[in-house]
Amino acid sequence: MKNVGIISVGCYLPKRVLTNFDLEKMVDTSDEWITTRTGIKERRIANKDERNSALAVHAAKDALKRAHLDPAKVELIVVATISPDSNFPSVSCLVQKALGAKKAAAFDIGAACSGFLYALTTAKQYVQNGLYKNALVIASEKITNLVDWADRNTCVLFGDGAGACVLAPVAGNRGIIADYLHAQGEFGELMEVVVDNSVEPLTQEKHKVHKPYLVMQGKELFKVAVNSMADAVEIAVQKAKLKLSDIDCVVPHQANDRIISAVAWKLNIPKEKIFVNIDKYGNMSAASIAVALYEAIEQKKIKRGNNVVLVTFGAGLVSAANVVRW
Ligand code: ACO
Repeated sequence: MKNVGIISVGCYLPKRVLTNFDLEKMVDTSDEWITTRTGIKERRIANKDERNSALAVHAAKDALKRAHLDPAKVELIVVATISPDSNFPSVSCLVQKALGAKKAAAFDIGAACSGFLYALTTAKQYVQNGLYKNALVIASEKITNLVDWADRNTCVLFGDGAGACVLAPVAGNRGIIADYLHAQGEFGELMEVVVDNSVEPLTQEKHKVHKPYLVMQGKELFKVAVNSMADAVEIAVQKAKLKLSDIDCVVPHQANDRIISAVAWKLNIPKEKIFVNIDKYGNMSAASIAVALYEAIEQKKIKRGNNVVLVTFGAGLVSAANVVRW
């Protein structure tokens, strides 16, 4: 079996910034509440005409450029998203077209905030078993489309963005050395997108179309999130035949800085080893870890030879972790 590694990471963030002070004018909230409860100071919001696939294409181009990989040579494109342009075509097919990656197979994965790691582990298998020589993995979200902007419980938490990486065989003992994917459907009601499923398909009557929007039981989700992320780290590290003290950097899903701190405390990992950028972007669902990984590399928090843990939880409830030897 080949070792498969992340040979490049790219990202794209919409230009428009929405600060906590902007939100103070929209709902009954305050910068102080949002900062102390979540760690978020601002987030990016895609424009009306800036679709999810456009964010994905920007991030993909960045990752391909850094990998010196011609789009025509990409063999697989996997996009993690829960906020696609539409039900179909898939975002991955839209990306394939925009890149001119004519040779590539393409599909989307929906695992909410765990999507990037689900996509990473899935794509890795294809490269590892030799079916494809490389894979372009993208996590892209225009999740602010699903937000009820009158609900202060949720609208302060989310932002848009995209990250991407290229996977290819790597030499030596480097690469993605452990994977852990988990699901706990019994916690599904803690975070849902409300849709109107009551429409009778055969009727000719016009039905009021309800825009889907997300609802969340924040307090309950918080507790499950901490336990799921801590368990995921421990299991993945064990699978990599390492100890927690061998880990140089943890890149967690950025849902709430207090969740991240609680996971660090539970695992007895110093907070300095944990990469946090939630203050600038909020929760970008699947894109959060991809963008955080990009920034951790840019800021030299991750260096060649480091043992890196990527860990996440998301609606479903789905959790996941990977150990990567950089
Ligand atoms: N501004 C001001 N007050 C607010 C706001 C707001 N934006 N939102 C809620 N409040 C109020 C509540 O109404 C409540 O008031 P009450 O006591 O009068 O009823 C009070 O603040 C306290 O609310 P709590 O729910 O106790 O606040 P908590 O400390 O639990 O923080 C939070 C809320 C930030 C949502 C936290 O529970 C959390 O982060 N949970 C996990 C969320 C999460 O991870 N979501 C994404 C996961 S899945 C995915 O990423 C796709």
